[in-house]
Amino acid sequence: MAGLGVNIDHVATVRQARMTVEPDPVWAAAEAQLGGADCITFHLRKDRRHICDRDARLLKQTVTCKLNMEMSLDPEIVAIAVELAPTQATLVPENRQEITTEGGLDVVAHADRIAEVTQALRQVGVVVSAFVDPVPEQIIASRDAGCEAIEIHTGAYANACIGTNGSNPDPTEITAEIEAIQTGLHAGLEAGLIVHAGHGLTYTNIEPITAMQGFCEFNIGHSIIARAMFTGIKYAVSEMKRLVS
Ligand code: PXP
Repeated sequence: MAGLGVNIDHVATVRQARMTVEPDPVWAAAEAQLGGADCITFHLRKDRRHICDRDARLLKQTVTCKLNMEMSLDPEIVAIAVELAPTQATLVPENRQEITTEGGLDVVAHADRIAEVTQALRQVGVVVSAFVDPVPEQIIASRDAGCEAIEIHTGAYANACIGTNGSNPDPTEITAEIEAIQTGLHAGLEAGLIVHAGHGLTYTNIEPITAMQGFCEFNIGHSIIARAMFTGIKYAVSEMKRLVS
């Protein structure tokens, strides 16, 4: 049965909108665990636009399920991750102008640096996952760089489900994106990797993805936190957990 990773960055985004102390993403993590989260995910960005160092420290001290830190290859962030030693680190690309992580990590192009970072993290017992597009070359390169896991980027599928520029979603495009994810899942499993999925997954688009056998965990943030504004985090998480499992 696949697990649910809950990304709490957006709670910190609301806090940072006022540069104040609430809402606290550490409280959100506790509520998410009460709702059945199997993993708490946070992204400590170089620009600290949402999660800050204090959050990362407190999450490490208080989260009792798996803790997954999304991180770039930046030396300062890598040093923090090595010291913090979360259960898992997910290597992601980071671009200052982006609203959220846009594409998968280009593992082929950055293989040497990824191997170096992966080795440093694995030495302190961190499971390393690479966030990649569902492209077999990127998946094989992740394994070759020493990653034990990958997270397949489901953003293109999620965008296809919404449709572009006000047009209705194109079923052919949705089917093509589902097939790409399936191909990525098979490539990951064949390479002996743990395979996760995430980005843009919602209560309404997740079903075809959970129907695929072999995913270990789904990492979901925005949709759960958006719903939590109306239902509370615990309930929003338990509803998603029901869909995932
Ligand atoms: N996985 C990764 C690697 C991400 O960068 C993000 C966004 O922070 C997510 C999953 C969650 O995406 P969403 O907020 O769209 O559910």
